[in-house]
Amino acid sequence: MMPEPDRNEALREEFNRWAEAGRGEGMEEEHLPIVLPVLDRMNLSPYENVLDVGSGAGWLVRLLAERLPEGRAIGMDISDEMVRRSRRRYVDVENAMFVVGSADEIPWDANFFTHAISVESAYYWSNPARGLREIHRVLREGGMAWILINFYFENPHSHQWAGHFATPAHLFGAGEWEALFRDAGFTNIAHLQIPDPTPAPESYAGRWFQDAAQLRAFRQAGALLVHGTK
Ligand SMILES: C[S@@+](CC[C@H](N)C(=O)[O-])C[C@H]1O[C@@H](n2cnc3c(N)ncnc32)[C@H](O)[C@@H]1O
Repeated sequence: MMPEPDRNEALREEFNRWAEAGRGEGMEEEHLPIVLPVLDRMNLSPYENVLDVGSGAGWLVRLLAERLPEGRAIGMDISDEMVRRSRRRYVDVENAMFVVGSADEIPWDANFFTHAISVESAYYWSNPARGLREIHRVLREGGMAWILINFYFENPHSHQWAGHFATPAHLFGAGEWEALFRDAGFTNIAHLQIPDPTPAPESYAGRWFQDAAQLRAFRQAGALLVHGTK
């Protein structure tokens, strides 16, 4: 296996390519239906500080910033191109900020954030155990971590993605993610599946699913949300 610094560099290059192709912005439409129920569960107060790990094109940071008029939303991404585009797009959002950084070495002081969320990113991290320890470090006592992913063991309709990823990805089950949370020091750990209510198209010609029926089954199984408290 590639050493971690090389894997991180491969991730940076791959997601810089995604950013340059405009794929970051396109993810808002795809991920919003599974993210909205998580925002409801987070039950944010106006003064909280929230970190989005793997913030991509920054759309979730904008949504968070709207909910945090007295607090701050910070987006962090390993792709400097994603961060550059987010900064340019959301320059007018005063309580939003974007930084380049990796989940396994978060460039922030300990005990700062009240929540950390990560959407469709954690299975790419070169070292998810270290990423969760880092999230635990930057959260305040009582702060909560929320990891949301579509590529996981209990949703068989995502397993074929492994063959399309340019960088290696972790196909863990809910129990394995929960164990990583526990080892990182979290308590009150739980998981649930969040179905995506978006109607599937009549036909599907993309490369991520075999056909429209598989896309429908994938959305019915939904995304995996794992959360825990510091
Ligand atoms: C599929 S995109 C999702 C982006 C965004 N969360 C969204 O839902 O639109 C995955 C993102 O995770 C970022 N990423 C991957 N590995 C990372 C790491 N180790 N640390 C921080 N960000 C990472 C990528 O650069 C990319 O922007």
